[in-house]
Amino acid sequence: MRKSAKSSPFAISQPQPTDLRLGLIVRLLMEHATVVMSGTKIADEINSSRSEVWRLIQQLRGLGVDVAGHPATGYQLRSVPDLLLPEILRPLLRGTIFDADIRHFYKIGSTNTAAMAAAAEGSPEGTVFLAEEQTAGRGRGANSWQSPRSTGIYCSAILRPALPPSDVLVLSLAAGLAVQSAIQQVDSRVKPDLKWPNDVLIDGNKVCGILTEMNAEATRVRYIVVGIGMNVNQASFPRDLPARSLRMVTNSEWSRVELTAALLKSLDREYRHFLDDPNARESILRRFAENSSWVLEKRIRIEENGSAFEGITKGLDARGFLQVETPHGLRTVLSGTVREQ
Ligand code: BTN
Repeated sequence: MRKSAKSSPFAISQPQPTDLRLGLIVRLLMEHATVVMSGTKIADEINSSRSEVWRLIQQLRGLGVDVAGHPATGYQLRSVPDLLLPEILRPLLRGTIFDADIRHFYKIGSTNTAAMAAAAEGSPEGTVFLAEEQTAGRGRGANSWQSPRSTGIYCSAILRPALPPSDVLVLSLAAGLAVQSAIQQVDSRVKPDLKWPNDVLIDGNKVCGILTEMNAEATRVRYIVVGIGMNVNQASFPRDLPARSLRMVTNSEWSRVELTAALLKSLDREYRHFLDDPNARESILRRFAENSSWVLEKRIRIEENGSAFEGITKGLDARGFLQVETPHGLRTVLSGTVREQ
C-alpha cells in the first residue's frame, strides 16, 4: 500500500506561520495595558473560547511574552513584548509596500528560502517573512547565518521590479543604505560603515549581512528576495568572529520592533526612489561610496572562486562593481569576499 505524503515520516513539513490570534491578543493587552482583561472579553474580541485564550496565552509565554494572570483573574501584560508579530508591525508600516502581507514564524529554516518558494508560487511584491529564529539561516556563498531566538532580526522581502538582472547589484547596495539609515534613525550616535557589497560594520565588526537572491530570465527579473540579518541583542559572539550586536556596541538593549519598522520603511523609500527616479542609480552609487570606508583607497585582499588577489580600491563602476588597482592593472571585483589588508 502506498502511504500518503501526509502520513509519511519522510514528508517535508512546511514551516507553520505564527497563529495570527497571538498578535491580536498582544495588541488587545497593549491597548488595555493599565487594566486586567478577562479571558471572556479577550475570547469575544478574537472570536474564540476562554480555554483557547488560555492555550494561546501559554504559547505567548513560551515566546517570552511576560503576561500576568490566569483564566480566573484575567490577564495583563507586565512589559511590552519585543516580538515581530504582524499585528504589532503592520500599523507602523502603513503606506509602505510592506504593510499588506507580513508572515511571521516562531521558528523556520531560512526566511530567504521560504520567501523564494512563496515568490515562485506567485506571492506579490511586498510580502515580508520574519522569524524569531532560523535553524538553517543562509549567508552569502556557502556561509551560514547564526540566528538565535528573538535576539536578531531575520527578515526577507519579495520584490518584483521590472528590471534587467544587471541592475540588481545596485538595488542590493541600496538595501545596505537602508540598513545604515535605519540604525541611525534609532540611534544617531552609531556610525555604521558599508563594506562592499553587502556588509554593515561597526568598528570593523559585522552587525548586519544582506543576501539578495533572484529568479530571472536573461533580460528580465522575475522576482528578487532581499534577506537581511541583523545582530541586535546578542550578548556575545565567539572571540574569533569579527561580529558584534548593536547591544554590544551601545551597551543597551534595542527594540527589534522599532528597528524592523525603521528598516522596512527605509527599504521602501530606497526601492521607490530606485524605481521612480531616473537618476537613482548614480545617487545610490554616490551615497554608497560616501558612506563606505571601503570603496576608495583601501588596501584589500579579495578571495574569489578559490583564487585571491590584492590591491587598492578605486571606486565603483556604473553597475556597482568594485574597482581595484592591482600590480597588473585595474580589476573589477564581481563577487567574493573582501578583506582589509
Ligand atoms: C551574509 O552576510 O552572508 C548575508 C547574511 C544574510 C542573512 C539573512 S537572515 C534573513 C535571511 N534568511 C537567510 O537565510 N539569510 C538572510
